This record gives sequence, C-alpha cells and structure tokens, in this order.
Amino acid sequence: MQVGVLSERVDGERRVAVTPESAKQLIAAGLEVLVEAGAGVKAGLPDSAYTEAGAIVQNSVDLSVLDVLCHVRPLTAAQVAELHRGAITVGLASPSTELATVKALAAGGITSFALELVPRISRAQSMDALTSQSLITGYRAVLEAATRFSRFFPLYMTAAGTIPPARVLVLGAGVAGLQAIGTAKRLGARVSAYDVRPASADEVTSMGGTFVHLDLDAVEGQGGYARELSEDRALRQQQLLTPHVAGADVLITTAAIPGRAAPLLVTTEMVAGMRPGSVIVDLAAETGGNVEGVLPGVDHQVPTTVGDGAVTLYGLKDAASDMATDASRLYAKNVSNLIELMTAEGEVAPDFDDELVAGTCLTHDGQVRHAPTAAALEGD
Ligand SMILES: NC(=O)c1ccc[n+]([C@@H]2O[C@H](COP(=O)([O-])OP(=O)(O)OC[C@H]3O[C@@H](n4cnc5c(N)ncnc54)[C@H](O)[C@@H]3O)[C@@H](O)[C@H]2O)c1
Repeated sequence: MQVGVLSERVDGERRVAVTPESAKQLIAAGLEVLVEAGAGVKAGLPDSAYTEAGAIVQNSVDLSVLDVLCHVRPLTAAQVAELHRGAITVGLASPSTELATVKALAAGGITSFALELVPRISRAQSMDALTSQSLITGYRAVLEAATRFSRFFPLYMTAAGTIPPARVLVLGAGVAGLQAIGTAKRLGARVSAYDVRPASADEVTSMGGTFVHLDLDAVEGQGGYARELSEDRALRQQQLLTPHVAGADVLITTAAIPGRAAPLLVTTEMVAGMRPGSVIVDLAAETGGNVEGVLPGVDHQVPTTVGDGAVTLYGLKDAASDMATDASRLYAKNVSNLIELMTAEGEVAPDFDDELVAGTCLTHDGQVRHAPTAAALEGD
C-alpha cells in the first residue's frame, strides 16, 4: 500500500507529517512511502534524507493513487476530492471548524483519522499529537516571554548588586502549562500556577511550581479535560485571580476547553493592574484568547494604571511550526505509530473494535462517526 505526504499548503506552516525516521518505520511495516519533493525542507529534512530512508521522492504526488495520506494541517475539500474512495487520511483535522472538509471526507467515502480525537488513554500516548505539539508551545511561550522581558528570570547576586528573580504565573496547567512551568523554572524564575482541575495541583508542584489555590469549586469534565465555567463562576475566577495577576512579572496563559473558544481569564482591567514592563504571552490566542484583546501573532502595549508605562501582550501563533524540526519529529512519530497500529502484513486495515482506532476515526464509509461533529453538520 502507498502512504503519501505533501509539503503543507497553509502559509507559514513548516512542519511535515512524515520524516525520514518515521518513513523507515512505515517501510518496515511493509508500506511504500511517497514524498513530494521539498516536503521536509522547511523542517530541515532534505529530499536526500528521505531517499536514504527508502522513501520515493516525486516532483508531484498523485493523490488519487494513495491509500494513506498523512498531513499536519486540515486538508482542503479540493484535496479530499482527489483521493479515491476508501483512502485513509491521518492528521489534524480540526473537526469543529473545518466542516466543509468533513463533508467532503464523508461524501468521498474516505476513512479519516483526526489526531485531535485520539482518546486520552495510556496506550494512546505515543499517538497523541495534541500532547506532543503542546510540549513545544509551552516551551516556546516562555522563550517568547523571556525575550520580551527587560529583566533576568533568575536571581543574580553580583558585586554590582542583587537582581531578584522574575515571578512567572501560568494559568492553565495542562500539557503546555506544565511545560511552561518547567521551562520558566529551568530559567530560574519563581513560578506559580493555577488550573481549574484540582488534579493539576500535584503536577504543578512536581514541576517545581507553587499551586495557587482559589476559593472556587473544582470543575472537571470528561476524559481529564476541563469543562466550561458558568458566567458567575468565570467572573468570580477573574476576581480571585486579579491579585495574583497583578503580582506577576510574566503571565503565561494556556487554558482551553476542547471544541470551544478559549475561556476569558484575564480582562483588560486586570492587565492594566500589572506593573509596567510586565509581559503576557497568551497561548490560546488562536482560539479566541485567555486575555481580553489579544491577537494571534501580534505584540501590543496595554497602558498600566499602576505607574507610567505599559504591559506587553503577545498572542502566540504557529509556535510548533516555528520549531519545525522537533515538532515534525514528534508529530510524524505520532502519525506513524497510529498507522503501524492499524497495519498487518503490509495492509492498513483499521480495526474498529479497538477503542483507540474507533475513537480517532472522524469519517468512514460515508458516515461522520464523531458524534459532536455529526451534530454540528446537521445544524450547519
Ligand atoms: N493520554 C493521556 O492520558 C493524556 C494525554 C495528554 C493529556 N492528558 C491529560 O489531559 C488533561 C488536559 O490536558 P491538556 O493540556 O490537553 O488540556 P487543554 O489544552 O484542553 O487545556 C489546558 C488547561 O487549561 C485548563 N483550563 C480550562 N479552563 C480553565 C479555566 N477557566 N481556568 C484555569 N484553567 C483552565 C484545563 O484544565 C487544562 O489543564 C491533563 O490532565 C493532562 O495531563 C492525558
């Protein structure tokens, strides 16, 4: 069977869904790997590395011959239309927003696997692209903050005087938040963090952070994810967070609710209450933002009310793509692990009795199998 990968078509996307290393894994499973020339170049992976791994590099890959298409960003309906009935796709599909593509996948009889849907069970960890990519965004967010901050992160005691450590507050302690805590800690900052899920308190502590306990009831949804707060509780959370935000030099926000817009945790008034020179990096900027007024990829200055000056507010964008080499290394491994799981004797044949395979499948045999997406399409 033929597995293919193209260079990503979305502007600014540098990652690639198959690396030479993951191609080797697919070839060892009995599959043939076709790579569009230049597909890995922006991730630092030249065509020659794919050829050495045993893949076939082609100037243009004919989508209609592929049995499996691997991708990073959601496919377009036009790309889907080129695939043959029964073809398989594996990649991020953003089912809640890319409904036109979902329709095309179902209409074309494509068996699509959306990596956002990988169930949160321990057996699925090696296929969990949200986790692998969040690791990168959490790390990157801290570096972006550090370069915008005009002070050191660590404590320095020098002959010329003592420099106190930066105080970093992380809101949302999921995969990205924990990575941000660890990175800020390694840079020497004093780190505290808050999450609405009580289970995260121990994880924050184990990363070297101090958990901020708010006088607010715990909220935990299904599968270890958070649930949306009611309007009253969201408001109460903002009030309780206000002094913690005001005391931070650097604020990193990472809160998310699967399939929903990001929750608003920090209002403009709260930002204005921070000291001049403070820095905020909002990881949720691309899904609406945790901080009022944030825009993805944009730095802006919010005047403070506690002194002359401003707070820098930056909306993180394409962070994983900006670290395309390691992001691709992890992502491609997630993809090849999932394909390998479904492959026996050189045939990719998904077993829908396996909860991991069934849970990750978005469309199959003309049907949208992911119930929330099917419901969204009905209301479309
Ligand atoms: N295979 C696995 O078992 C597996 C894989 C990855 C993650 N997980 C677990 O899943 C959970 C969610 O992780 P994630 O990084 O995907 O989450 P996520 O990206 O959906 O959200 C990020 C964080 O924001 C928090 N949040 C949401 N609303 C908030 C609010 N109003 N205030 C403060 N925080 C808020 C969430 O609780 C979460 O910790 C974690 O417990 C993680 O360890 C399990």
